[in-house]
Amino acid sequence: MENNLPISSRIREIYQQRFGTPACIVRSPGRINLIGEHTDYNMGFVLPAAIDKAIYVAIGKRDDGRIHLYAADLDRTYEGSLSDVHVSGQHWPVYILGVVQQLQKAGHKLAGFSAAILGDVPLGAGLSSSAALECATVFALNELFQLGLEKRNMVQLAQKAENEFVGLQCGIMDPFASVFGKKGQVIRLDCRSLEYAYMPFSTETYKIVLFDTGVKHSLASSEYNLRRQECEEGIRTIQKAYPQVRSLRDADISMVNECLQAGDPVVYKRCKYVVEEISRLQEACDDLVNNDLVAFGKKMFATHDGLSQLYQVSCPEADALVDMVRNRPEVPGARMMGGGFGGCTINIVQQDVIPGLVAIVEKDYKEKFGKELKTYIVNIDEGTTLVNI
Ligand code: GLA
Repeated sequence: MENNLPISSRIREIYQQRFGTPACIVRSPGRINLIGEHTDYNMGFVLPAAIDKAIYVAIGKRDDGRIHLYAADLDRTYEGSLSDVHVSGQHWPVYILGVVQQLQKAGHKLAGFSAAILGDVPLGAGLSSSAALECATVFALNELFQLGLEKRNMVQLAQKAENEFVGLQCGIMDPFASVFGKKGQVIRLDCRSLEYAYMPFSTETYKIVLFDTGVKHSLASSEYNLRRQECEEGIRTIQKAYPQVRSLRDADISMVNECLQAGDPVVYKRCKYVVEEISRLQEACDDLVNNDLVAFGKKMFATHDGLSQLYQVSCPEADALVDMVRNRPEVPGARMMGGGFGGCTINIVQQDVIPGLVAIVEKDYKEKFGKELKTYIVNIDEGTTLVNI
């Protein structure tokens, strides 16, 4: 399906060929996160942004109570019944069906629908293609059946779909960034209160460059869920001395040292990383306000080291990619991004050196790991929207 039309036009054509005229088309973007990793489910802060790579869902009603889906990228179809939402044999429909299930659980009346899906968010690269698809789906169903959902409900529903149907105990960051993204702005989100503020991120001198390790770790979701449990174990121990601590958000490094240092070294390392990261993000936001990308970037490297050594969610490829740019003044900051165990590193790179730097890193990566490195230069873009058709 390679042609030069924009994705919004292609998805319309694709839908038309299979199902007739779509009622609406929704675009929901992937996300980056500048700093604040594995802090969302610990009720801390994150600093994500939506990007100019998105999933598009074209949708229309059916009158037979059935769900017909077509994933254009994969050239795969799914057919099932609205009254018995389940998946067998293939994975991709879970993101859509998980949303359908959550809407029904919340008491919303749906009818049958057809949907076609197409996008340019690289899959499994840590850019939240799954949250983008879930958010596009909930937005599209909200529009199609006039459910009257607020954006915040949609975000929470997408997260629940991932937690309960897909089985990843993820936090709120990814769907929040996809839905609330704003062009040129990063979102400072308090994951406990869901209060948020936009902060400008100027890409005049510096651009955001993602290096994709190409590693898709099969343990990513089980290890992710395990990290959550390790944090919860740390909280339970801290609570014995400090009952007011409800999550790692409420703890500080002295509590972590006092209560956990003599215990399980793994739990100690995990909790140390999280409380350090939560305070690092707050200082990093001050750097952004002061327009000090050098100080901001140093914190990104510190985050990487914490994720790699204490939280242990990096991989040799991501570590090497960060080391390749570490001492270059034209790259003030870099780190692995997202859940970990593969995916991309995020790099802040001085615009005029990008082609030269990318060539060097691609060559070094090939030499070291014997595989091609994919590079994406991304811009910060709007969150989930209806596409004009
Ligand atoms: C994944 C999850 C998010 C978040 C990040 C790590 O992307 O979906 O909720 O926990 O990992 O920061």
